[in-house]
Amino acid sequence: MPELLSLDQAERLSIEQVHDLYGKYVSRSQVSLIGTFGFGRDLVESAEGAWIQLRDGRAVLDFTGGVGVLNHGHNHPRVLAARDRYRQQRRMEVHKNYFSPYVAALSHNLAALLPGDLNISYFPNSGAEAVEGAVKMAYKYHAGRRGTVLHTDIAFHGKLMGAGSLTASPEIHFDFPQIPGTDSFAYADLDSFHLALERHTDSQGRSDVYAVVLEPFSASSLRECPADFLYEVRRICTEQDIVLIFDEVYTGWGKTGELFHFMRHPGLVPDVLTTSKSFGGGKSSISGYITREPVFRRAYDNLGDATLHSTTYYGFGEETATALAAVSVAVEEDFPGRARKLGELLSAGLADLAARHSGLVASVAGRGALHGVYLRQGPTLPKAVRDLIPLSLAKDPQVTAKLLTGAVIAALYRDHNILTFFGSNQRIALIVSPPLVAGEEEVQIFLRALDDVLSRGVRRLLTDFVREKISAAKAVR
Ligand SMILES: Cc1ncc(COP(=O)(O)O)c(C=O)c1O
Repeated sequence: MPELLSLDQAERLSIEQVHDLYGKYVSRSQVSLIGTFGFGRDLVESAEGAWIQLRDGRAVLDFTGGVGVLNHGHNHPRVLAARDRYRQQRRMEVHKNYFSPYVAALSHNLAALLPGDLNISYFPNSGAEAVEGAVKMAYKYHAGRRGTVLHTDIAFHGKLMGAGSLTASPEIHFDFPQIPGTDSFAYADLDSFHLALERHTDSQGRSDVYAVVLEPFSASSLRECPADFLYEVRRICTEQDIVLIFDEVYTGWGKTGELFHFMRHPGLVPDVLTTSKSFGGGKSSISGYITREPVFRRAYDNLGDATLHSTTYYGFGEETATALAAVSVAVEEDFPGRARKLGELLSAGLADLAARHSGLVASVAGRGALHGVYLRQGPTLPKAVRDLIPLSLAKDPQVTAKLLTGAVIAALYRDHNILTFFGSNQRIALIVSPPLVAGEEEVQIFLRALDDVLSRGVRRLLTDFVREKISAAKAVR
């Protein structure tokens, strides 16, 4: 028998052993990459709310929001209770021969919370699967008679082949094969949208576009579509019978101050809405797409097509039971209101820091519990720093912003035990994204720490960071 590591042994691995196993069996390059940003040297013991407890006893304030997963914070007690209860009652998992009461209840609750006739739900496991399911359904809605799907020039919809074909973020920088018939328009730009539609309209005025997929708030670039743009896109899609898909995989469940970002705009209803991340309360890997009734009925609702789209884990018991609890928490604990309050504190605090550190901070942007701090491109790098970095990086037009943002993130972690992360869709940003269970005190801890780090100035931040990067890279090699 091969010698297998037990759960017990896994929990007792040292960081060196974890690096070693990652290097051999997961990804060597991931170990190097995370190391050069000053991370990956600590192991987590436990996590609760906005705080992570490291094995070495340090408490880290988590302002990453778990990249959208942690609106509920770590290990929300009601989310944990739902999972414990499910297990204690020995509930059944996946089965094709029985209906799931959890899927039934979760679908009901989504229909009750969402506007219009967004009534029919399907629950796969990741954001990209939800996007692909939505686009596939739109194609089927038109019975294969239309062949074009439009996305925006800053879109991020995931990294599977299909969702990746609809993604324009530089995070996907390799030419994978594309699903056929994709085209793009400039984000929030009506003229560009009209031009894209015209490119796919024949001389008889018939559109070949079956779907438009759009993030009303682009979490990766912190931009949002103005109301008039969204209403006009909705009007045109209705007029031309194009399925309008809003991707709120990231922004759902209160993050920007409404249950879903598009609900800021009265009367605006997409044909399909995608969700994931905090839908699972930080515990379950569940996503969903919720469809307007006539679209679903025409696409799939007949006996012949009833299983045309399915996945093995659709209706996974514990995942949907967890999502039921996560959704109740988001509603009953008023996550949208919490996000608005956090947003007021962050907007005011970050604007103040931007004014006081105007040599370093170019601008700030965001809404609710999702903000970005953009650091300046210039001044040119100090020679001491240029001499330390690879030539290819030195030639990157965004090199200063990249290094400075990396330096601020590393210093916040190293010197203040605060975790933030790096946004890199077109412009480089320091992403500030507290969980919605964070309070004013945590925001003030963060703002004071950022003030301290920015006070060090460009030269010291860069020199410290590059030196540390080099020694970290040597250590992992
Ligand atoms: C708006 C949006 N759509 C889709 C995805 C893809 O989700 P997943 O990584 O779960 O596939 C993401 C992930 O960050 C996202 O932000």
